[in-house]
This record gives sequence, structure tokens and C-alpha cells, in this order.
Amino acid sequence: MNNIPRHVAIVMDGNGRWAQKRGLSRSAGHRAGVETIRNVLKTCKKLGIEVLTLFAFSTENWKRPKSEVDGLMALLVEYLKKETKELNESNVRLKIIGDISKLPMHIQQEIHNSTQLTKDNDGIVLNLAINYGGRAEILRAVKKIANDVCLGKISQQQINEELFSKYLYTHDLPDPDLIIRPSGEYRISNFLLYQMAYSELWFSKIMWPDFSSRVLLRAIKDYQKRDRRFGAV
Ligand code: IPE
Ligand code: IPE
Ligand code: MG
Repeated sequence: MNNIPRHVAIVMDGNGRWAQKRGLSRSAGHRAGVETIRNVLKTCKKLGIEVLTLFAFSTENWKRPKSEVDGLMALLVEYLKKETKELNESNVRLKIIGDISKLPMHIQQEIHNSTQLTKDNDGIVLNLAINYGGRAEILRAVKKIANDVCLGKISQQQINEELFSKYLYTHDLPDPDLIIRPSGEYRISNFLLYQMAYSELWFSKIMWPDFSSRVLLRAIKDYQKRDRRFGAV
């Protein structure tokens, strides 16, 4: 239990291929992926991890067929409706990163309800990345900073790494210590670009619906063997 990462971030990938292999629809794969969230969150809580960030929908995922996008949105609403009460009872703070203003109004409302209800909880933060893109997040921060400079709220000289991170969606979270990508893809796909400067990366061929607590523990064990030097010797 020594050296537990404070913040674990996961790219929930491989639902479609998992389903395809079983002759199921992609949406059945996404549904199975939601089940994985329950197990992984439970294990993170037990380990005392402070933040679990899950990449659920990227700014690029709008390129998918409308039927799949609609299915993913419906699944999100279903998850929030079903789980919020229990998340709240187990002291989870739900947080969303990404541009949710592009989502249908009723989904924004559902997100608002869930985040409001859990906002004062001081247990693990379940941070869902929805319509999130690392580049979009950085540009949003740049625009906000430019605006605050124009308004005279901050001066150009004050802009440094610490200030910049206060303008990101993750302003109230530590940087991810460990980023996990299942599904056998060795890429970041626009996830947490600014925050991942010194994150440890862990890849696995397992598809997200098959990702279990055992796999998570293996990732954490590997993480614990890493020597994080942050540029020093
Ligand atoms: C889920 O996995 C990730 C989301 C974008 C919701 P995918 O739907 O990308 O599954 P694969 O990569 O096609 O197998
Ligand atoms: C990354 O998965 C985004 C999410 C898991 C939400 P993708 O399946 O969209 O990534 P690419 O297209 O393989 O890079
Ligand atoms: Mg994918």
C-alpha cells in the first residue's frame, strides 16, 4: 500500500472490438464497458486513490455514426440516473471535464444534478471526460487567459505553468500519476495533454469490458516499480 498513485487516468478503449469478437453490436460493448467502471471505481476507493479520471467521449468521437453517438449519450444519462445516489452515499465527488455545452440540454441538466449533489463529498473524485480533447482544453485556457489579461485581471508577466494549470478543467486536481490505455493501442488520442508531462504510462492489450480489478492492480504494481525522476538524477 506504499506509493499508491494519487491520480489514475484511463482511456476506456476497446468496447467496439470486444463486442465485434462476440458477434454483438458496438452498443452492447459500450454497455459492458459501464460495468467495468463499477469494479474499477470500487478498487480505486479501496486503495485510497484520490482521483480516477475516465475518458468517456472525445472531441473527435463526434465523427462516429449518429446512432453510436446517440447510444453513448443515452448510456451516459442512464449511468447518471442509476448511479448518482449510490455515488453520493459512498462519498464520491463526481466531476466532469470537457465541453458539455455541446451536449443536448437534458443531458447537461442530468450532469448538473449529479455534480451538484456530490459536490461537497470528500472521498474519491470520479472525473469523467466527456466531449473532452486535450488540445481544445489548452485553447480554451489560452482564450480565458487572453481575456483576463485584456480585462487587467492578470498581467502577462504572471503567466506561468502554475497559473496556466489553473485555467484548465483540472484546476482542482493533481496531475495524473498513472495513465492507463487498454485495447492494444499505443497512443494518447488527445487525452490530458498538458497534465501528462510526467505521468507514467501503462498499456495493455485487454479490451475495456474485460479490464478487471486484477488488471488495475497489475498496473499499479508496475507503477510502484517505476523510478520517477522528473528530470533530476
Ligand atoms: C470505447 O471504445 C471508447 C469510446 C469512444 C466510447 P471504442 O468504441 O473506441 O472501441 P474500439 O476501439 O472500436 O474497439
Ligand atoms: C479514445 O478512444 C477516446 C475514448 C476512449 C473516449 P478512441 O477509440 O476514440 O481513440 P482512437 O480513435 O483509437 O485514437
Ligand atoms: Mg477505440
